[in-house]
Amino acid sequence: MRVVIVGHVDHGKSTLVGRLFHDTGQLPDGRLEAIEGMCRRRGMPFEWAFLMDSLKAERDQGITIDTSQIWFRHDAREYVLIDAPGHREFIRNMVTGASNADAALLLIDADQGVRRQSRHHMYLLKLLGVREVTVAVNKMDLVDYDEGRFQEIEAEYRRYLEGIGITPREIIPVSAREGDNVASRSKNMGWYSGPCILESLPRFEHPASAEAQALRLPLQDVYKFDERRILAGRIESGTLRVGDDLVFSPSNRTAKIKTIESWNAGGPVTSASAGQSVGITLDEQIFVERGEIVSHEVNAPVESDVFHVRLFWLADTPLEIGAACELKIGPSRVDAVVEQIERVIDIDALSDHAATRVARDEIADVLIRTSRLMAFDAHEDLSQTGRVVFVDRHLTLGGGVLSLGNYPDQRQLVTVRGTNLTEVDHRVDPERRVARNRHKPGVLWFTGLSGAGKSTLAMALEQRLFFKGYQVYVLDGDNVRSGLNANLGFSPEDRAENIRRVGEVAALLADAGLIVITAFISPYRADRARARAAAGEAFHEVFIDADVATCESRDPKGLYKRARAGEIKEFTGISAPYEEPKAPDIIIDTSGRSVDECIDDLFTYVADHFSTSGQLG
Ligand code: ADX
Repeated sequence: MRVVIVGHVDHGKSTLVGRLFHDTGQLPDGRLEAIEGMCRRRGMPFEWAFLMDSLKAERDQGITIDTSQIWFRHDAREYVLIDAPGHREFIRNMVTGASNADAALLLIDADQGVRRQSRHHMYLLKLLGVREVTVAVNKMDLVDYDEGRFQEIEAEYRRYLEGIGITPREIIPVSAREGDNVASRSKNMGWYSGPCILESLPRFEHPASAEAQALRLPLQDVYKFDERRILAGRIESGTLRVGDDLVFSPSNRTAKIKTIESWNAGGPVTSASAGQSVGITLDEQIFVERGEIVSHEVNAPVESDVFHVRLFWLADTPLEIGAACELKIGPSRVDAVVEQIERVIDIDALSDHAATRVARDEIADVLIRTSRLMAFDAHEDLSQTGRVVFVDRHLTLGGGVLSLGNYPDQRQLVTVRGTNLTEVDHRVDPERRVARNRHKPGVLWFTGLSGAGKSTLAMALEQRLFFKGYQVYVLDGDNVRSGLNANLGFSPEDRAENIRRVGEVAALLADAGLIVITAFISPYRADRARARAAAGEAFHEVFIDADVATCESRDPKGLYKRARAGEIKEFTGISAPYEEPKAPDIIIDTSGRSVDECIDDLFTYVADHFSTSGQLG
């Protein structure tokens, strides 16, 4: 059980830890006397902090763990007590995963009461997934063991914990210096009937065992030995066995485990699990790189190039919207851009406000877009692979936890499930189709908010083009969703699949020689990029531009009204995102313009781009 000890700097962490060792007889022989002697020689009072530091040094020899850990045994259970260093170092350790705690023991000084750091440390711990918390109200001797003072602090802090969704296991009045309620119940606080600190430790529940969770093995390296390639890394969660079918993310390649390499010759290894560093070989040579995440096919990590981060910003220079940054997600580094700062959170008042920058020591929700598809987990599902660190070479600028929110897992969209496929060629030359139709084929991909005018303009344009002799057809959201895509709703994944299918159908129709007009919100940039990739050169992105306020004032289907009333969840523009095109081929601003004016623009665009030596007018 890994217990992190947190609280404001002078609230008595070292004294408490020293006491715990002393009163349970776990101090190495002569240690106390040595430190007493040293303090006396220097003419200073006995200092528990020296004792705690000496315990850390004791345990660190030869083992590469960070210097803030102390091993403590009680009741047949082993505890790693993690001393949280200074505030910012603590945050850095936590977000980078250097100190992974299962539980927290938080100290509050009875005299000084709840301080800012008492709240900030706990907020951070909760954010990083620590749910097991015990609070020690320390230095009760300084307030004459007063029950009223204890209750005041207890009530105030309990309220705060409730606000962030934590129910503490215990809140214990303590005097670490005097030994009250540390390893034994205090005689000075007859009014308190709960457990002492030592008794409270076994009440911490272990989090779900990491071995039982989904398999995550981030690849640290791929080594080549003669003909063999050994993939190496540390298993963050789950268990792998020889013969398991694996998937590599984000490359989506698959293979079976042939062997688990063992460095000590104690016989063949057939399985390995969370916490172990392993090398594996595969049954076939596939190309995979450092940075990929190995998992089983079920419960694979998500893949996306856009996601939300709840961020702790540590750098002096504020983070601004549009800033380019470098992220570390697991073993991979990636370039990214801050697309949006959604809110800055006030951890004390537990409120938030809009902002365009995140200053040092602030916490904010930001929307990030990476330059390539990344594999990770929503922190809520798996904490180890759900973290991100903002870096500048070796400096940590900030860190946080990941979530997809309203964005789809893009994995399903890039996996070809069929095997043994052989594509065949058409015998009709595309040029012959163009010659017969007397215009080039293509996809006019309308994107914009509901109510922006996509369907109206699509149908009017189709009519105008048809009468001019064009082979043209409209694929419209509401129509396609009652047939081909009847099994899809409006979740991020369903929308992504909606657009994937329409993108493929549009590409096929264009291949058949038609001009296809599509009228779908298509809110995600990544989906539209894929639709463009499907149709290639023939793709034209048409931004039907009207802002939310305009669309809402039109509200042709009454949907905005219902969305505002909370009757429609995940409604684009209200409670689900719409990502405007960055570089559309043409923008049609529909606010304050008639349908005919807009159609004139569109028709001119088509005539310019699709005609072949002017046969159709
Ligand atoms: S998309 O997001 O997947 O591209 P699509 O264009 O197919 O959406 O369908 C949008 C239409 O569905 C809207 O014009 C509206 O009539 C209807 N609709 C129903 N629920 C929603 C919702 N939650 N968000 C947006 N549109 C919705």
